[in-house]
Amino acid sequence: MNKFLTIRRPDDWHLHLRDDEMLNAVTPHSADFGRAIIMPNLVPPVVTGGQARDYRARIRAALPEGAALKPLMTLYLTETTDPADVVAAHAEGLIAAVKLYPAGATTNSASGVTDFDKVRPVLEAMAEAGVPLCVHGEVTDPAVDIFDREAVFIERVLDPVRRATPGLRVVMEHITTADGIAYVRENAADAAMGGTITTHHLVINRNAILAGGIRPHYYCLPVAKRETHRLALREAAMSGQGPFFLGTDSAPHPDRAKLQPCGCAGCFTAPNTMSILAQVFEEDGKLETLEAFASLNGPAFYRLPPNEDRVTLRRQDEPIRYPETITAGEETVTVFDPGFDLHWQMEPA
Ligand code: NCD
Ligand code: ZN
Repeated sequence: MNKFLTIRRPDDWHLHLRDDEMLNAVTPHSADFGRAIIMPNLVPPVVTGGQARDYRARIRAALPEGAALKPLMTLYLTETTDPADVVAAHAEGLIAAVKLYPAGATTNSASGVTDFDKVRPVLEAMAEAGVPLCVHGEVTDPAVDIFDREAVFIERVLDPVRRATPGLRVVMEHITTADGIAYVRENAADAAMGGTITTHHLVINRNAILAGGIRPHYYCLPVAKRETHRLALREAAMSGQGPFFLGTDSAPHPDRAKLQPCGCAGCFTAPNTMSILAQVFEEDGKLETLEAFASLNGPAFYRLPPNEDRVTLRRQDEPIRYPETITAGEETVTVFDPGFDLHWQMEPA
């Protein structure tokens, strides 16, 4: 028997589309989202308004006819970012946020920030102009255990930066710990903070990566944590509460680059994200909060209206089909496997 759920068109508040052949291959898989915050960690990174404009044009060209997706651009914060360029790019509606990567924290983050004093003038200008800062919340200190890097980041970096820059609105991205959830909750008054949660972190814990054999396709950053943390993420995502919204962090890499002695981080979830989300929300009896998580809380934080149009999710008894891999030129990219059959499919309303 079919079951239907109609919601406002969802948005993706954290998405990697890459460039060139990969851009052309993956962008159609996000075309049914209303808007997406586009990550700037290209090589070289998107650091100026001019580069963001050019990248947006390449994304638009990669979208299929009639696609809903509107790319919302971000600038990659470096120690030489010009505050005036950021403010101007935001004022003209070109960028929606600025992205902070601690130097070396993740894929293509070599140009990130080491000395936070150097970016203070930009952060102050952003606070003044209401430009949100999206943060990759992990410390890079090799002395800190990788499973503790998010919690330590809150204490050593996030909280001090926020205290030093009153009025700065911050999104803690791809939260993976109960500590992150608690911090966002405590600081969410007046939309001072938001937090994105990925699809895959609602599904996997660290056993998926390491138990019974190493599974590179489940390796992403921040790395999945223990089960108690996954349960905290599910509770937050399904609470319907304002500060928490969907950012898939769909991060495609060629299989060739993931299946290496030193493979890179990222899960490619764009093709089946809404199917997985509907399924996990249903599993926990929380389908009624999916719209808040995927379609309402994000725009409220970014001070944008929710999408006017709707999509329908249809549940069928037979498992849906989706590709195990997609191709990008000569490369294959593996689609995230949630480890269970999927029954929900998103359709135009
Ligand atoms: C992202 C990527 O591949 O660009 N990887 C990931 O594991 N999430 C970078 C990031 O968002 O950390
Ligand atoms: Zn990311």
